[in-house]
Amino acid sequence: MNVQSMRAGLGVPATSPVPPAAFAVSGAASGIGRAIALRLAAAGASLALLDRDADRLHSVAAETARAGAAATLVLAADVADDDAVAAAFARAEARGPLDGLVSAAGVLEPGRLDDTTPGAWQRHLDVNATGPFHLLRHGAPRVRDGGSVVVVSSNAARVPRTGMLAYAASKAAASALTRCAGLELAERGIRCNVVEPGSTDTPMQRTLWPDAEAGARAAIGGDPAAFRVGIPLGRIADPGDVAELVCFLLSDAARHITLQQIFVDGGASL
Ligand SMILES: NC(=O)c1ccc[n+]([C@@H]2O[C@H](COP(=O)([O-])OP(=O)(O)OC[C@H]3O[C@@H](n4cnc5c(N)ncnc54)[C@H](O)[C@@H]3O)[C@@H](O)[C@H]2O)c1
Repeated sequence: MNVQSMRAGLGVPATSPVPPAAFAVSGAASGIGRAIALRLAAAGASLALLDRDADRLHSVAAETARAGAAATLVLAADVADDDAVAAAFARAEARGPLDGLVSAAGVLEPGRLDDTTPGAWQRHLDVNATGPFHLLRHGAPRVRDGGSVVVVSSNAARVPRTGMLAYAASKAAASALTRCAGLELAERGIRCNVVEPGSTDTPMQRTLWPDAEAGARAAIGGDPAAFRVGIPLGRIADPGDVAELVCFLLSDAARHITLQQIFVDGGASL
């Protein structure tokens, strides 16, 4: 994917100078969001990176500049805060329309039915479900006709998992929200797809595993007591495995794909 192929189909002659493709990415300070930002940067894109962790976001912005981004705008904001997301997109407005929008910010606090507090339940909904709602609400009007929206949800949205019911419920809401919005945005030619990763080696995943090697082994091998079948492909995903699919969905190569929920989990959701 490069800037020209992202823009293909706009009717711009190949010889005309075209501005770099522009994308906004939430959750860009870490893990999967960072990998998406770096992949887009390497294609020469112009980026607006949003995260609530301003320090790490600035470090990633330095990385995207080194990776080849045409420009990187740092937007420190909490996706759960509607006003903050509105203000972030207002700051990005001067850069012109977006070619694509990615929601990757998310939180996970493990908990079963008997130990999930109302507070933990609400935090998951606020960030994982209401966050993408805010992002689409304020971001979609800034996406050009024919652009693309990708929301990073989780395979837990569709496969019941023990010990993460608030997380799974919030991700199911995010997946449904995205596909409903996509139905409405189709009239502007905007495609909306959901990417649902399984275990991926990021800081979020590692907080679940006090011993990273043992944790990865258990995830790959499965656990009948927890009704987990394991990972048929026998490996934990790299953030880049997820970023690859997100960037494909953002590109014009995916121009006839919308309203899809796609697992990237090595077969763990069979
Ligand atoms: N890592 C996995 O195994 C896995 C599996 C399935 C789905 N996911 C999903 O992928 C996405 C990325 O997760 P990751 O593994 O890279 O996690 P991560 O913790 O490495 O990164 C998440 C990023 O989101 C940001 N964030 C959290 N709450 C925010 C808020 N309220 N406002 C703005 N930014 C906020 C964090 O600061 C962080 O930079 C998440 O939506 C997660 O649920 C991850």
